[in-house]
Amino acid sequence: MKEVKIALVQFKPNHLNIEKNLERSFDLIEQNQGADIYLFPELYLSGYLFTSIEEVKKVALRSDNIVFDTIKKYTKDKKIAIIGGYAEDESGRFFNSAFFIAEGEFLLNYRKVHLFNEEKLFFSPSFNGYKVTKYRDINFGIMICFDWIFPEAARTLTLKGANIILHPSNLVLPYCQDAMITRALENRVFIATCNRVGTEKVGKKKLAFTGKSQIVDPSGKRLIQLPSSKETVKIVKIDASLSENKNITNLNNLLQDRRPDQYIM
Ligand code: ACM
Repeated sequence: MKEVKIALVQFKPNHLNIEKNLERSFDLIEQNQGADIYLFPELYLSGYLFTSIEEVKKVALRSDNIVFDTIKKYTKDKKIAIIGGYAEDESGRFFNSAFFIAEGEFLLNYRKVHLFNEEKLFFSPSFNGYKVTKYRDINFGIMICFDWIFPEAARTLTLKGANIILHPSNLVLPYCQDAMITRALENRVFIATCNRVGTEKVGKKKLAFTGKSQIVDPSGKRLIQLPSSKETVKIVKIDASLSENKNITNLNNLLQDRRPDQYIM
């Protein structure tokens, strides 16, 4: 057994207000204690809708930003992990990134590989690929939102040994939540998708986010799904070791039966 309690924090960020978002994220954790891992949406520290590069610059964080020291200290005191999305500044290049900070340690930084729509105007795509980190003897991988539509993302994390794929999101299309049943099943992994709720409007631009954060188990069963428009936090206990059995039948093993020589990559 590899038990872990994951909190889905279906959050509605304040647009371009990092200080407030950080404070509210800690409040929500205080009000929902008992999880080992608190998963927040994509870009939860900044909000999503950018209309100029100046807006991105205003909220993009370098790796030495005090925000990360604050999160490190908080997770150390509480003996928890926090995963969530933020705008990253690396020497003036911006990435749509997610951090995995656990008990005072910055364990993983993932930069989104597949940028969605107007994200391409403001962010650089990652060339660092998909990575897995170990926490509480469980392998965690991260992909961000639109990565879901490329089966290679979840498959790569599975091949790298992920038991649980953490999936911070800001979904606007209606397909992902159902598609994740297939992604979890075809890889026999857990997938925790934490989506945001609410709308963002800047000038003539408006986006509505679809909520319905969820966790799907390696058999494709949805263990929980949150409402479509309400900020909600729910904690789910899972046994990550269930993802270690890749057998479909006595004679079929999901990873050993792959035929890469027959595929186009
Ligand atoms: C998305 O990737 N935020 C849809």
